[in-house]
Amino acid sequence: MGARQVVTCRGPARARRGREMGDLEVLTNAAVLVEGGRIARVGPYAELRRAMGGERGGGGEVELVEVSGVLFPGFVDCHTHAVFGGPRLDDHERRALGADYRSIAAAGGGILESVRDVRGRSEADLLALARTRLDALLRHGSTTIEVKSGYGLDVETELKQLRIVRALGQAQRATLVPTFLGAHEIPSEYRERRAEYVRRVCEEVIPAVAREGLAACCDVFCEPGVFTILEARAILTAARQHGLALKLHADELEGSGGAELAVELGALSADHLAAVSETGIKALGASSTVAVLLPATMLFLGRTRQAPARRLLDAGAALALATDFNPGSSPTVSLPLVMALGVAQLGLRYTEAVLAVTVNAAGALGLAGERGQIAPGFVADLVLCDVSDWREVAYWLGANLVTAVWTAGSACLGCSAPVSLGLHVQA
Ligand code: NIG
Ligand code: FE
Repeated sequence: MGARQVVTCRGPARARRGREMGDLEVLTNAAVLVEGGRIARVGPYAELRRAMGGERGGGGEVELVEVSGVLFPGFVDCHTHAVFGGPRLDDHERRALGADYRSIAAAGGGILESVRDVRGRSEADLLALARTRLDALLRHGSTTIEVKSGYGLDVETELKQLRIVRALGQAQRATLVPTFLGAHEIPSEYRERRAEYVRRVCEEVIPAVAREGLAACCDVFCEPGVFTILEARAILTAARQHGLALKLHADELEGSGGAELAVELGALSADHLAAVSETGIKALGASSTVAVLLPATMLFLGRTRQAPARRLLDAGAALALATDFNPGSSPTVSLPLVMALGVAQLGLRYTEAVLAVTVNAAGALGLAGERGQIAPGFVADLVLCDVSDWREVAYWLGANLVTAVWTAGSACLGCSAPVSLGLHVQA
């Protein structure tokens, strides 16, 4: 069967950039020691076994969980729109038959269809749907999940979406990071009054979200035909004044200088980037803003142009990968699938694909100090995959290879025993 491995991703507690993404620590016949929900030690099995024996001598309780497979840090899905109603099947088929983004929106589809759907559903109904979907993300290995609002587009429904994220964050095993995306589209009732909508987002909705502590980040869909650079700058500036971290849907389809704006504002991330300009690539390469690439979205939309991942890396940028899980452009819950697309569609190495869903995705959420590594002090979020070689996680296109998941050291899937101390990956 070959050797089993622990992929630690150990290194500096920040997103890795450019060539640094080529370095990945993989230990063979190793063990992980967990204490109080955090990683205490990671290293050779024999060495940890001796140390544990010593501790046992001192009276400590040691529980050993033997596992077979490859162990990874819990995956971090740093871009999802997981609170929504039904799927958008008609959009999918219209696109297959050649319709584009604008004609779909004109026919009543697109984001505004999901907005009507979400506005019309009860909080309980939406919460139940979101719970099932977050559970599916977790079963594919995502232990930290960013979730955006953006299918409400009015104060009441945006807050409803964010309260659902808060409730599920308290009830679910995965850690949820809520992002306010009130500027996902201009709602139809403001079509002729867009300046007024932007003003309300800045002066009413952002303050209300901040008052209730409902979001960690604010995002804007900055794209020709959606929100302009000027509007995005105004909204993100207001959000920053209210203590929110910034993210940006930047240069997805045509591009308008979104990457440059994200860097200018010191955003945590600029996401999509299939149409990023040369200046945008340079700006990202010289900044700590993480470039979050979403290859499943371009694939599902039937577009041939993917983000220029290698040019971003050559410029020195930090790359992350995410599902973009949403009903319009990316109905997938699988980060391993996205990793495989990262290799096959974006030209990433396996090391880069793994760092892009662990350390760097944590960086895109401002969590690189505590998530994304199997290293002492980090939260003990762990994922076990039923493979022999760690690279297979980004190879078996579409299969769910995750057999066990632990969050903060507790088993939430697969392995029923809690990992109170030791986790041994068998050779
Ligand atoms: O990230 N680009 C904007 N937002 C989503 C699409 C959301 C939708 O179509 O419902 C995205 O692709
Ligand atoms: Fe998105």
